[in-house]
Amino acid sequence: MKIDRGTPCLVTGASSGIGRAVALQLARRGARVALLARTETALEEVAAEVRQAGGEALVVAADVQDANAVASAVERTVETFGGLRLLVANAGLGRYALVEEQPAEHVETTISVNYVGMTRVVRAALPHLLTAAPSHVVGITSSAALIPHRLASAYCASKAASNAYLAALRLEVIDRGVGVSWVCPGVVDTPFVAKSELDPEADLPRLARLMVRTLKPDEVATAALSAVENNRAEVVLPWTMRMFAMSRRLAPRFADWLHRMTG
Ligand SMILES: NC(=O)c1ccc[n+]([C@@H]2O[C@H](COP(=O)([O-])OP(=O)(O)OC[C@H]3O[C@@H](n4cnc5c(N)ncnc54)[C@H](OP(=O)(O)O)[C@@H]3O)[C@@H](O)[C@H]2O)c1
Repeated sequence: MKIDRGTPCLVTGASSGIGRAVALQLARRGARVALLARTETALEEVAAEVRQAGGEALVVAADVQDANAVASAVERTVETFGGLRLLVANAGLGRYALVEEQPAEHVETTISVNYVGMTRVVRAALPHLLTAAPSHVVGITSSAALIPHRLASAYCASKAASNAYLAALRLEVIDRGVGVSWVCPGVVDTPFVAKSELDPEADLPRLARLMVRTLKPDEVATAALSAVENNRAEVVLPWTMRMFAMSRRLAPRFADWLHRMTG
């Protein structure tokens, strides 16, 4: 679908990083953007930036773990904007630990926010997206969905589940005018890594560190909006990460060996 002046959009995880960058790119096109995350003060700051950039902004603070709060946020968006045509499901977090040292809470929260939280937003938004078709859902998942790495079992699982869910959804709604995409970035320069207590130097595979550059949030936002406008299913970036993902699909034993040798 084409993103025009006035297109009603909802971006989750809009208070920071990739979500903020998507909201600002939408604003530059004159879109109407509902901003969802938990921290209202940060959302108000992004809302001011959205207005300054030429968009309309609505703050709908909610925790994606709370189904009622998500439903109210979607309803407020539809009431205020008169509909919903683009959902950017981006809210997420990372918890990293070896499986044998991982508190149960790590797995539960990671799945609840990254995967179940995304499905809550999609289910609340879908009736409105169907009514307003042509419309689109784009999920910001991760290259970790395609290339598992150590310390990240719960995170990789949450993102692989998200990819599978969105791929199934695409088949269900594509002939009813709703496009579905999932964007799988490698490492992105946002507060995400600091919040997760991951040490990229020590914890990320050495080969990936050497070969895959860190992305800017704006690059991911551009890729996501291009996926929407061209109705692309899966987008993996940067291209070196796409090569790693492809080699894992074509030669999984070789990919495992390479990962262990260089990890
Ligand atoms: N940065 C990377 O290296 C990287 C790589 C690949 C994929 N990703 C994915 O990209 C997405 C955005 O991450 P980012 O890098 O932009 O990180 P970020 O700057 O930490 O932003 C995360 C956003 O999600 C929101 N959020 C977290 N928990 C939430 C909850 N329970 N309910 C509602 N909102 C919640 C946060 O806002 P509040 O805390 O205010 O709720 C914030 O707006 C995530 O899904 C992440 O997994 C990131």
